[in-house]
Amino acid sequence: MRNESPTPQTANETEADFLHCMLAGLRRQPKSIPPKFFYDARGSHLFDLICATPEYYPTRTETAILERYGAQMAARIGASCRLIELGSGSASKTPLLLRHLADDAVYVPIDICAPHLLQSTARLQALFPQMAMQPLCADYTQLSAQDMQSDAAQRPVIFFPGSTIGNYAPQEAVQLLRDVAQWVGHEGGLLLGVDCKKSPALLNAAYNDAAGHTAAFNLNLLARMQRELGAQLDPEGFFHYAFYNASLGRIEMHLVSRCRQSIRLGNESFAFEEGETLHTENSYKYAAHEFGQLARSAGWHLKTTWSDAQGLFNVHYLSLSATEPRHLLPFGTP
Ligand code: AVJ
Repeated sequence: MRNESPTPQTANETEADFLHCMLAGLRRQPKSIPPKFFYDARGSHLFDLICATPEYYPTRTETAILERYGAQMAARIGASCRLIELGSGSASKTPLLLRHLADDAVYVPIDICAPHLLQSTARLQALFPQMAMQPLCADYTQLSAQDMQSDAAQRPVIFFPGSTIGNYAPQEAVQLLRDVAQWVGHEGGLLLGVDCKKSPALLNAAYNDAAGHTAAFNLNLLARMQRELGAQLDPEGFFHYAFYNASLGRIEMHLVSRCRQSIRLGNESFAFEEGETLHTENSYKYAAHEFGQLARSAGWHLKTTWSDAQGLFNVHYLSLSATEPRHLLPFGTP
């Protein structure tokens, strides 16, 4: 059975939200904006290029974990599920899981970028013609439990690969995981990818690729502000800067002002000193036990952790039940 409507619903007003968040971020001291606006058509394309660089290990590592353990993950999820992917993007890793799910599974990709969502859903539907697919074009951070409700008998399981959870400060991540628990109810599950703490050299390289795709991805925000919001700014007046902040356990991305200048947006002018930055992204890194603790304070119990042999990346399965047993696997970190 297929979803009857081929066009996704739009659950929010991305444009107004973009202006609102940019203004709020530029008024803040230090200036900082949320990372979700990276993903317009060009940004999503640049992100795909980042994922293919030799330096950006998370994508290929998580892919290898899904390739190797996808069948175990599907078994853990169980039959008859409604797999809801948050920020599905190109959904390039998703087939590695879908291929092991039963035909009665329903796949619900959610993404903020409509063209990307439609294209990737069409690709997946061609690969799995029997599976029902219900794309939803939305900013998942704005969804309510009601948006997520379904009369279907399938058990909801949230799929959140790519370590996007790392974009949230720990307290925000706890809040998101609490919301997710509300969406899925007490029977629900959560399968998510989390990037691990590791040597700063490896981390710094991953966010400063030699081809410059990460820099272009970061700078694209300025182009978007010009194009879509009519901001007056000099895109050449800023450069990409990313580094691992070890004491906070996170990569920070910034746009650094090369000189004293200002950005005009709406009726306001925002002054930058030379060297002043617009903080554009955080990417938190967690050891398995750290993530387990964080998830625990949102009501989730870590059940299984799948990892690569070098311990670069973890894929965790969590449930809301404390009694279900915890499985330990060969490469799982205790
Ligand atoms: C998609 C949020 C997981 O933080 O590694 C990649 C985004 N930013 N390079 C990450 C990103 C710069 C990525 N996430």
